[in-house]
Amino acid sequence: MITHMDINKPTPITSSKAQLELFSRASDVKATIKSLESGRPVLITAFYSNGLTLLKELQIHLKRKFSGTSFKVQREYRDAYRKLSKLILIEVVDHKLIVKKAPSIGWLDVFYPENSNFLLPFPKIQGLNSAWQWYQNGITVPVLRNKIHPYYGTYFPTRFDHLILFDNWLKRYDGPKKSAFDVGIGSGVLSFQMVKHGFQKVFGTDTNPNAIVGLKEYMGDTKLSRKVELDFGSLFGKWTTPSELIVFNPPWLPAAHNLDKNDEAIYYNDTLFPDFFEAAKQRLSPDGKLLVIFSNLAQLTKATTDHPIENELAKGGRFQLEQCLKRAVKKASDKTKRDQHWRASEEVELWVLKHL
Ligand SMILES: C[S@@+](CC[C@H](N)C(=O)[O-])C[C@H]1O[C@@H](n2cnc3c(N)ncnc32)[C@H](O)[C@@H]1O
Repeated sequence: MITHMDINKPTPITSSKAQLELFSRASDVKATIKSLESGRPVLITAFYSNGLTLLKELQIHLKRKFSGTSFKVQREYRDAYRKLSKLILIEVVDHKLIVKKAPSIGWLDVFYPENSNFLLPFPKIQGLNSAWQWYQNGITVPVLRNKIHPYYGTYFPTRFDHLILFDNWLKRYDGPKKSAFDVGIGSGVLSFQMVKHGFQKVFGTDTNPNAIVGLKEYMGDTKLSRKVELDFGSLFGKWTTPSELIVFNPPWLPAAHNLDKNDEAIYYNDTLFPDFFEAAKQRLSPDGKLLVIFSNLAQLTKATTDHPIENELAKGGRFQLEQCLKRAVKKASDKTKRDQHWRASEEVELWVLKHL
């Protein structure tokens, strides 16, 4: 069984504060950035906002240094920012940030119960803080009655078109509803939809321990916890008995090997889809449906021309297409950046397959 001990969380830094350069409003920003560039960590000492200011100054400095718009320069900018920003540190004492006017972040209690004094990189604190807000306030999902409360480090939907597509399919589905698989359950939305539509049992897996721990906690010993079973493992985890429905909302973008992108909720590797379809072949009942949620995002952003589901249908020899439902993604907010003009033609896809 996995516990809080196994989850992904920022690693505390326990090195001595003595050699650290200190940063407050009175400090010289340019000199501080020079220190960062020479690899020396800097400690935020007075106000939380001093950390925000330093990050902003660092961005301005690096934008000047890497000023081109080419993909390469943009990547260099991001790499430099990542490398330097994590040298900006902040102190945690008794599960609280020691600086003034700091947000209170519940994850510090949850994740470091025995560690009462340590340092963390400021960007990690920002991540913990926003994740805590999402977790506490919850997210309203249009197809579900209850809010979801995504656990730290777990994927959750921010746009809902694919969930609406799936819900419409579930409304019309009149096959058996004894059991289903939710491969890569994340924060549980697809499983909750299936339970809402009358599935008696859903088996959900994830390779991200945070997703499993988070859902265990979210469901507690409610009725839902008896309908959704969890396993921390790849693809179908420990389960081999076939079900009449398999759902997978996989990562939508191919991992580029030269990039430092190892987020398994967003990027897939070469083996994920072939392995998934092979395992699914063994676990789909004879008249069962295999549903894969996908999008034309990778094609629109020119990440690849490959489409893993079309590939499977053309060459896999395992499944045939029953239908493919598509839905235009609702226009993003006005905040949409100009370089995201491709979003206008973004579509989500629901691929419904059955045995050949
Ligand atoms: C795009 S998210 C979808 C999450 C959720 N089903 C939803 O629709 O909101 C993909 C999920 O698959 C998980 N995942 C990636 N590779 C996996 C694998 N080989 N086996 C099980 N889960 C995996 C990720 O950790 C992530 O939670």
